[in-house]
Amino acid sequence: MVKPITIEVWNPSGKYRVVSTKSMPGTRWIRLLADNDCRLEICTENKTILSVDGILALIGDRCDAVIGQLTEDWGEVLFSALKRACGTAFSNMAVGYNNVDVEAATRNGIAVGNTPGQTVGVIGAGRIGSAYGRMMIEGFKMNLIYYDLYQATRLEKFVTGMQSNELLYIPSSI
Ligand SMILES: NC(=O)c1ccc[n+]([C@@H]2O[C@H](COP(=O)([O-])OP(=O)(O)OC[C@H]3O[C@@H](n4cnc5c(N)ncnc54)[C@H](O)[C@@H]3O)[C@@H](O)[C@H]2O)c1
Repeated sequence: MVKPITIEVWNPSGKYRVVSTKSMPGTRWIRLLADNDCRLEICTENKTILSVDGILALIGDRCDAVIGQLTEDWGEVLFSALKRACGTAFSNMAVGYNNVDVEAATRNGIAVGNTPGQTVGVIGAGRIGSAYGRMMIEGFKMNLIYYDLYQATRLEKFVTGMQSNELLYIPSSI
């Protein structure tokens, strides 16, 4: 018997039931989902990792989509449960998806999304600014906006070589 999981509900009259297995940062995502007719149920347990049984209990009989964490094991068991609950989408609250069996999701007709890296801004892309920018781009898969008096061609070449990152140069007149 799985202990009942505590949740908070947003936009209770929303047409689509979306479950988040953990609190989300800020309220931007909550507002976005509520504005798109979603009833959002957010797990407020203090545990860092929910068990598969715990997530099954959250999905229940009817669930359109789940927002999960990289600490969770998203494989056949959870994706088939989500399909039975008429779900169609799973979003991983992480840049990657090592914890997700994408083939199992595809077999069950569940679309998988992840959370793309954010954008870092650098003012002065010299030695320190460029080194910092490279660490954020390579390590955290972030996009880059930089301000400088001059174009940082070596840094730009590095970003272009990474292919998956975006770059914006804003010439500075400060
Ligand atoms: N590198 C070090 O070991 C070190 C150690 C301690 C402190 N600092 C200080 O940190 C700062 C940065 O060091 P760095 O080694 O990266 O310098 P750097 O000269 O390699 O880079 C500075 C960058 O800032 C840009 N810049 C200058 N004025 C600007 C403006 N008005 N608007 C936008 N961009 C502007 C320059 O074009 C250059 O690309 C410096 O003030 C330096 O004195 C550096």
